[in-house]
Amino acid sequence: MHGRDLISIADFTADELATVLSTAARLKRDPAWCTDALAGQTLALLFEKPSLRTRVSFDVAMQRLGGHTVYLSQSEVGLGQREPVADVAHVLSRYVHGIAARTYAQATLLELAEYASVPVINALSDDEHPCQALADLLTVQECKGDVQGVRIAFIGDGNNVAASLGQASTLAGAHFTIASPPGYLLPEKVLIQLEAFANASGGSVRAIQSPQEAVEGADVVYTDVWTSMGQEVSYEQRRRAFAEYQVTPELMALARPDAIFMHDLPAHRGEETAAEVIDGPQSVVFDQAENRLHVQRAALLLLLGQVQE
Ligand code: CP
Ligand code: NVA
Repeated sequence: MHGRDLISIADFTADELATVLSTAARLKRDPAWCTDALAGQTLALLFEKPSLRTRVSFDVAMQRLGGHTVYLSQSEVGLGQREPVADVAHVLSRYVHGIAARTYAQATLLELAEYASVPVINALSDDEHPCQALADLLTVQECKGDVQGVRIAFIGDGNNVAASLGQASTLAGAHFTIASPPGYLLPEKVLIQLEAFANASGGSVRAIQSPQEAVEGADVVYTDVWTSMGQEVSYEQRRRAFAEYQVTPELMALARPDAIFMHDLPAHRGEETAAEVIDGPQSVVFDQAENRLHVQRAALLLLLGQVQE
């Protein structure tokens, strides 16, 4: 994987995905492992949108591997406005060893990757959030022992988080069901991808409307915000469309008794999740948030460094 970009979970083979997860698990278990693997290396954090988890976990991940980060906000860089995306990619490649970028358009990431001579990592785009899905799978593995055969129900918007979770789940052999209202489904091209992954892995994929049907017998119930960053103008319309899609204690009760509740955060209590659910005993949202650090350490190690024995 050395020297590669991390734009989409769909670019991984099932074996590569398993390697990232096992590397992350080992880094988590053994804090003294590979602590200087990226000594002297710098990662640029180029963010068009706000962030807590992604920014801090990438920063700490680089420190824990012996490297550094430099944070660049859109107001300073003006990606595609003050300067063409290709020029930013060329210039940053002369200073840093990798670029983690959070963008609106997926096309911006692809353009950065095309012109940068260093690895580009997707730190969230409008279409995908691969680093989140890596943390999600590590969390499922820890809680359920494996990902293969696990029943994962995503309730809500067919957004960036749902797309990457669906890709990772079906690549790893899980049974992925998404329940969304009409007009908010996963894009058709993503569903086609998920079907191909599921066929190859022994997993399955279903896209349905009923949240009740989706969570029935689920091992994992997952939700995300109804209005993602950049969609604020449609907030009221989305609140109405998703009104029946809140993960409530009643909905959780339809899942398996040992089901876990997951959310990538930030969360809106009283919208996509009831407070009793996200703050209740089945919730693993802060383990998930912690795992961002471990999977990103693994990804940085594999893309930018050498695994030390
Ligand atoms: N889950 C996640 O990516 O959080 P941030 O937007 O705070 O980085
Ligand atoms: N779907 C959300 C995820 C935030 C981490 C968004 O894009 O705003």
